[in-house]
Order: sequence, then structure tokens, then C-alpha cells
Amino acid sequence: MGEEYTSYEYDVIVIGAGGAGLRAAIESARTGAKTAIITKSLLGKAHTVMAEGGCAAALQNADPRDGWKVHFHDTMKGSKWLANWRMAEYHAKEAPDRVRELEQWGAVFDRTNQNLINQRNFGGHTFPRLAHVGDATGLEIIRTLQERGIHEGIDIFTEYTVRHLMKEGDRVTGCVAYKRVDGDFHAFSAKAIVLATGGITRCWSVCSGSWEYTGDGHALALWAGAELRDMEFVQFHPTGMVWPPSVRGILVTEGVRGEGGRLFNSEQERFMFNYVPEMFQGDHAETIEESDQWVEEVVSGKLATVRRPPELLTRDVVAKAINSEVKAGRGSPHGGAFLDISHRGEAAILAKLPSMHHQFKELAGVDISKEPMEVGPTAHYVMGGVRVDAETQETTVSCLYACGETASGLHGANRLGGNSLSDLIVFGKRAGEYAANKAKTLAQPSIDDAQVQSAIEVMLAPLKRGQGENPGLIYDAMRDMMQEKVGIIRVKDDLETALSDLDEFSEREKKCFPGTSRKYNSGWHQALDLKNMVDISRVATMAALAREESRGGHTRDDFPGHEDEYWGKTLNICWMEDGEIKIRQEPVEEMRSDLKDAIKEVKALIAERAAEQESAK
Ligand code: FUM
Repeated sequence: MGEEYTSYEYDVIVIGAGGAGLRAAIESARTGAKTAIITKSLLGKAHTVMAEGGCAAALQNADPRDGWKVHFHDTMKGSKWLANWRMAEYHAKEAPDRVRELEQWGAVFDRTNQNLINQRNFGGHTFPRLAHVGDATGLEIIRTLQERGIHEGIDIFTEYTVRHLMKEGDRVTGCVAYKRVDGDFHAFSAKAIVLATGGITRCWSVCSGSWEYTGDGHALALWAGAELRDMEFVQFHPTGMVWPPSVRGILVTEGVRGEGGRLFNSEQERFMFNYVPEMFQGDHAETIEESDQWVEEVVSGKLATVRRPPELLTRDVVAKAINSEVKAGRGSPHGGAFLDISHRGEAAILAKLPSMHHQFKELAGVDISKEPMEVGPTAHYVMGGVRVDAETQETTVSCLYACGETASGLHGANRLGGNSLSDLIVFGKRAGEYAANKAKTLAQPSIDDAQVQSAIEVMLAPLKRGQGENPGLIYDAMRDMMQEKVGIIRVKDDLETALSDLDEFSEREKKCFPGTSRKYNSGWHQALDLKNMVDISRVATMAALAREESRGGHTRDDFPGHEDEYWGKTLNICWMEDGEIKIRQEPVEEMRSDLKDAIKEVKALIAERAAEQESAK
């Protein structure tokens, strides 16, 4: 006689209730599928809210010269030419409609003087492109999607953690979960499953994500036989809080730099001027005065015709620059840089960055309208993820879909700020629609008791050990190890040591003991999370070791290089076979010729703009 569990039947199950999951579930339900969301946390408690500064979409409100081709170009260039160009095309073309749809559903975006959705500048975007709601854009998007979702008749299971995907042959047929509050087990039959669990950044000790970000969807996909792509590309957002220690890693939105914030080292030097890479020269070589002028133009609603300040180089560049300044002994007292927005004055700061003002006042005792913030890189986002078909978001396992941060492709080696919110509304919609349409063609799968029982056995194992190490200690030590050896700057020796460390963490994980109770036992949850974290950390480390070049979010000190050249134009693909993680390389598919033409057209536009600026001097 096996363990008891409750059974359910759905057409489509979406795992994860952040922006991507909510958008997928809305579309699935609208397409006519009986849909459920399962979330390990509370509804709306998602990393989506950490995309504070805005949602990128070529609405052409701030500058009519913007358009899908420019957004496509910027995304490809920002990705260091590794993004899946089909995804980048869908994204650039569809983001404006998805933003307008959010507005129709009740999102209250900031407005221009002409009462259009206002757009702010962010790193790597040629024109001001980020539709925003002060510095709480992700929160407003989540609120809007939640309210919309309520009217679509979606069932919602909160505080349920999915630990296993059931399969029949090559196809996914459901999932097994436990309820976090009481430890009861639940089995779900599903014709299609959408993974939207967000990212993996809890694998690093300094990160902007909260406790949920343990790579659940990535691990579920890996264990179910799906392929993961380019997991070495982890984005260290340049500006997280560094002081006090209890808040280290919490995000300081790029919106601060988007509103004119400047970075200084301990010698009061505006050091970003020293870090403009060759591929961005010409775009960013302006003086301090010009960036003031730029801020004035954006604020007054005039066209933004001047070049962007170097603080708005892509995130990989800015994060590495801060890292280098600290290493050179020019860091702030607590190991970061100074970010100063005080020149904008209290009124503008309270209007445009109210959450940042509140956050620093409450958490660090700093008034950002009068004094600089101390900031430093924080693990924020994984560009790599579950490999998906660009159009449908189906993974390499039939009936299993992924979207948002869990999926890979759109961002290549580096994501532009603001492209995550647009990613999740564009591809969340696609995933939900295609999953629901597929479900219509399939019969309801039966729940395979043997698979459920074996998943339950794995879940109960830590509770039955009687003795062992506290999982929290392993969790902390593993995150510190990843921070030290697979952090912002990587070298072969460290990566190899990290892999053997992970062997040890895996052994410790198998012997840890969180006590015996299934009720309200956070140690048990952590013991289970460790399994994902060991496997996902290993995938990221193996991929980092294999990629012998520096590109975007992956910097190999032993392989510096030119990002405009390809490392053989190669993707790292990982998968699991008989419990072992494998890796191979694949060539990048050549871009369609009309898209190559679009890139050329945009490059010409940018050159023309630079010439105009030069002659206006
Ligand atoms: O800095 C930010 O507001 C983050 C945005 C993003 O990651 O897209």
C-alpha cells in the first residue's frame, strides 16, 4: 500500500505564478483549456517585481525613429549575437501589442506630456524604450495579470512545490507535488505543462532573487530529459545594494541610471568613461554635460537625440567595470561603487524613483536625494535555460513548454534590461496558446501510480534518515562556493574545483537530515531544493568550463577576446542521461537574410544619428 495522494485532471498546468506563468495561464484559459497554476509561493510573489525600471517595447512614443527593427538589432547586439534570432524577431514585433494589451487590462503606466505611455532609457537600447510605472513596473504588471487571471476561471494551487514530471513514452503527462504547509501529496494529470518557475540565481550567495529562485523548472526539465541551453550565461546586474550585509544583493533598479544616475569610484572619478568597449564606441562617448542634456530632454518629453551616458552600457560591461574598480582598490567602503542621482533633486527622485528612495531610507539609512548609494554586482538573471522552439515554446520533450526566465534563447549571452518583462508577456502568451491548442488534440492521460509513489519516496527520503547534517548549512556553503568559483570572473582551475566541490555537495545533500515532520518544515523544503541546486549549478559550471571565450555574462579571465567574433558561433547544450549530465556544442543557425538586412539598416541609422550629434557639437 503506497502513500496517499489527491488526484486532479487538467488540460494545461502552468508551474509558476510570476509574469510568464500568469500570462501563459491567461492565454491557455482564453484558448478554452481547463487550466491550473501551481506555485510554490504566493500568487504574485515573483521575481517579475524585480524588473523595476520598465518593459521594453518599440512603442515609438519617446522617439518615432524606434521600431521593431531597432529593437531587434539592439537585442541581438546586446546578446553578443547569440540570441535566437527568431525569438528576437517575434519579441520585437509583438512586444508593443502586449504592452498595449496590459494597458487595456488596467496597467497604469507613466504618461508623456501628450498622454502616451512614457518610455525611459536603459542600457543597450538605442532609443528610450521602457514603458514604466515609476520604479515598480514589474509589480504593476503582476497586479494587472493577477486581476485579469481571476476572471479567466483558472484554478490556483498556492504553496505547492512540484517535484516530478510524469511521462508516458516521450511525452509529459502530469506532475507530482507536495503542499508546503502540511506535506500532503498531490498528483496532476495534464495534457500539457508549461514551466514558468523563473530563474536559478539563489545558487549564488549575492543575488537579487528571493528564496523561490532555486531552479525548479530547469531541474524538472533536465530530469524529464529536456535540453538546456547556454547555462553559463548568468547576468550579474551591476547595481545591487552592498550595505548593510542583511540587504546585500537587493536590486537597485537600472532606472536610477536611466534617470541620469552616475557611477563614481572612491577617487570621485566617473570611471565608466574608461570602460567603453570597442563594439559600443561612438554610441557612448559623450561628456557629463551631454548626459545632463539628455536627462532634460527625456524629462521635458522632447525627442532624445543625444547619446547615452556610459552608465547605460550593457549590464555585463557595467558590472565588470565596477568589479575591476573594486579589485583595483578604488571601491566604496563596503566593496562597491557610488551611484549618485542626487543632482536630479528630491522632487524628481520622489516622482520617478519612489521605491528606491524608500528602500535606501528604510534599509540603509541613506537619503538618495542628498547622498550617493553604495552599489555592486548581484546575480540577477540567467540568460540560459530550457531549450524551446521559438514559435511554440515547446521544449525538446513533447507536451512540455517553458517561458520567461525558465526558457532560453531570446537573450543570448546578455539580456538588455527591460527585455525580461517584454519576454514574459510575449512568450508567456505564446506558450499558453500553443500548449492549449496541443491539449485540444490529446486525450486525458491517466495518473501512473508507480511514478507517483516513486516521486513520493524521493521526497520522503530526507525525513527518514534519522540523522545527518542540517540542509541549511549545505545550502549556504554551496552558494558561497558558486559565488567564489563560478562568479562574475571565471578561470579554468576554479571551475574545475567547483565541479569537484559539487560532487561533495551532492554527497552531503544525500545525507542531510531536516527532522522528521512534513508539516511547516522549511528544512525539508530546503533539503529538496538542494537537489535542484546541485544539478543546476553543475550544468552552469560545466557550460562555463566548456565555453573558452568571454562573451556577455560569461567572462573567462583565461580567455579574454572580442565579442564581435564568434567562438565558432556555438551553443552549449546540456541534458541528463542515466542520471549523468552531458554536454555538447552546436553551431548557431545562420540568420535569415531579411533580418541581416534589418540589422544593416539599423546600423546605418545609428551611424547617421552619431554624425548628426557630432555636427551639432
Ligand atoms: O534594473 C531593473 O529595473 C531591472 C530590470 C530588468 O531586469 O529587466
